[in-house]
Amino acid sequence: MQVRDRVCVVTGGASGIGRALARRFAADGARAVVVVDRDAKGAEAVAGSVGGVGMQADVAREDDIRRVIDDVETRCGPIDLFCSNAGILVVGGPEVPNDDWQRIWDINVMAHVLAARHLVPRMLARGGGYLLQTASAAGLLSQVGSAPYAVTKHAAVAFAEWLAITYGDRGLTVSVLCPQAVRTAMTDGIPGGGVAGIDGMLEPDLVADAVIEGLAAERFLILPHPEVAEYVRRKGEDVERWLRGMRRLQARFG
Ligand SMILES: NC(=O)c1ccc[n+]([C@@H]2O[C@H](COP(=O)([O-])OP(=O)(O)OC[C@H]3O[C@@H](n4cnc5c(N)ncnc54)[C@H](O)[C@@H]3O)[C@@H](O)[C@H]2O)c1
Repeated sequence: MQVRDRVCVVTGGASGIGRALARRFAADGARAVVVVDRDAKGAEAVAGSVGGVGMQADVAREDDIRRVIDDVETRCGPIDLFCSNAGILVVGGPEVPNDDWQRIWDINVMAHVLAARHLVPRMLARGGGYLLQTASAAGLLSQVGSAPYAVTKHAAVAFAEWLAITYGDRGLTVSVLCPQAVRTAMTDGIPGGGVAGIDGMLEPDLVADAVIEGLAAERFLILPHPEVAEYVRRKGEDVERWLRGMRRLQARFG
């Protein structure tokens, strides 16, 4: 898929990866770029800078997602590409309070489910559409220091796989974006990106380049850090060895 002349929506578009995607889609000639964020001012600022439309929404709230999809389709036309990108990081393990587990689950997983619930039927009815879901390399491997992030990003990858399997022959195209460390507000204050930065911190613009290339190829797995493919292969080959390697990272970074 080329974004030229397409109606593109990006959640979490006020900052970081989402902002870079919005800018890149506009530069590549998208017909409409809709910047969605719970930060209304940030969404308006990014939208204003690219001639797009800003919308305030909490992606974890079903009413907000439904409203965004309705409003975009009324104002801009059918959504061609919906990038479910907003996400948060919660550090810790089983001791993390239930409310925080629930919050990260709602944002990192249910937001993708809600967007699919309200958009996929419309896309199927008109013969197709594209969903890009931002997960993380943590959704394929793990996240030293954060069980809630590792778990929710695995769930996000699993949901994207399920959508691709279930609707791939009915016109729906799905990609899942799985970077390691990217220089954004999320990694601000973590020197070198921590363990996720072992292969280098990417600037958000480079992630946007990888997305454009992945969308053009309609590739399910978009890996801005190519090393991740090799790590996934090694994990599949020998999980015991992979766990030993991860424990070494835990000892270094945990
Ligand atoms: N930065 C990294 O190293 C990295 C690596 C892998 C994956 N990711 C993923 O990339 C995505 C974007 O993260 P980023 O690094 O650009 O972070 P960021 O903090 O710069 O941007 C996230 C944006 O999402 C918005 N947001 C958060 N919760 C929201 C909600 N409930 N409703 C609406 N908007 C909400 C925030 O306001 C913010 O503008 C996330 O899903 C993150 O998990 C980031």
